[in-house]
Amino acid sequence: MTTYDPFDAGVLADPYPAYAAARATEGLAHEPLLDTWLVSRYDDVVAVLRQARLYSSARGMGDLAAMAFSGDEQRLAPRLLILEDPPVHTTLRRLVARGFTPSRILDSAPMVQAIADRHVAELLEHGTDGELVRDLAVPFPVRVIAELLGIPPSRFAEFRGWSEAIMKAFSITPDPAGGNAAIEAINEFFAEVIDERRSNPGDDLVSLLVRRGGEGEDPLTLDELVSFCILLLIAGNETTTNLLGNALLVLLERPDLEAALRADPALIAPFVEEVLRYDSPVQSLFRGLSEPATLAGVDLPEGARIMVLLGAANRDGAHYDAPDEVRLDRFATGTPDHVAFGSGVHLCLGAPLARLEAKVALTTLLAATSELRATGEPTRTASFLLRGCTSVPLHAVPA
Ligand code: HEM
Repeated sequence: MTTYDPFDAGVLADPYPAYAAARATEGLAHEPLLDTWLVSRYDDVVAVLRQARLYSSARGMGDLAAMAFSGDEQRLAPRLLILEDPPVHTTLRRLVARGFTPSRILDSAPMVQAIADRHVAELLEHGTDGELVRDLAVPFPVRVIAELLGIPPSRFAEFRGWSEAIMKAFSITPDPAGGNAAIEAINEFFAEVIDERRSNPGDDLVSLLVRRGGEGEDPLTLDELVSFCILLLIAGNETTTNLLGNALLVLLERPDLEAALRADPALIAPFVEEVLRYDSPVQSLFRGLSEPATLAGVDLPEGARIMVLLGAANRDGAHYDAPDEVRLDRFATGTPDHVAFGSGVHLCLGAPLARLEAKVALTTLLAATSELRATGEPTRTASFLLRGCTSVPLHAVPA
């Protein structure tokens, strides 16, 4: 049986056999390299994520950020939503959630569509030299976030460079110095943007967030605002890139599905949900125990590190029929219950935006083409946290 080694090239290429082994382990499997307990069954994953005080993000995700950014994540990004526990998390989340209401996401649809049109056209222009990741999956979400934040187009290239440098810190070939330099540059950049929006507000997300919250609520501090803008880059870009790459790999392997989506574009939204489950862009999260607890019959001490394997929970045969198959009807009705966006108080704030982006990009790509032809082998991302592709050579044949 394959054991889960997060640094093994074979496991990174296809982690699912190792996840199956972890799920089959009585109690909890332990991973020695990261000294972490592996939580892999659907019910255990949901139980951990729904007890945010006991299974602390500050301890778990905080450890991870400290590793990625040479031990000083607080100086680099203080009060980062994803690294906080209740009650601090509760207040911060309420303040920033104002920027992600369903109506604000709906309002952004024409902007998302215009950016998708532009990048699909770019992919088509490249003909047989097209590359999904370079032409569409990377620039599209970065540009959407830049537009939401009101970043001027002249700064897009820099913005994308910082975003990539920060994400590299979370790969298995990290470059902490590059990540730190990018965070410092971006801190300075956002501090300027925020200052400018305070005196000259528009209708972008930053302008909304610099305004006071509800009655009696303190506004976000400058540090909190800068940290949140950085979090949007970390949480919102590569994740969406990965979702698009993973979706395309499924379509290239399953021409029957591609034909079904072309025949009925209403199936694209349930397809996106199924890809989120089948090949989750975020494979794992970390938590740390704030006090001793028993999980899956295993007694764990305070401080124990927990790796929450979302990608394993989403393939749990005890929860899903035929979990290793892509089925368009799995989430055709009802609320999808996969954990690709997490669960509990840290449930992805950007999920509605990510769903919109994926649906618009795939709908636009399929409408503009008659065929999608692989022109080379795709390359997988080298990370046990994030699963996606760094390259998908593709000839998108115009319709
Ligand atoms: C397919 C794309 C995406 C996936 C799979 C994804 C996944 C996740 C997951 C699993 C979490 C939970 C982290 C935890 O529990 O520790 C999360 C949190 C978060 N995501 Fe996403 N995400 C995606 C896109 C986005 C986008 C587009 C944005 C914003 C523009 C975003 C913003 C956030 C934020 C702010 C949090 C932190 C929430 C909190 O701690 O309360 N995400 N995301």
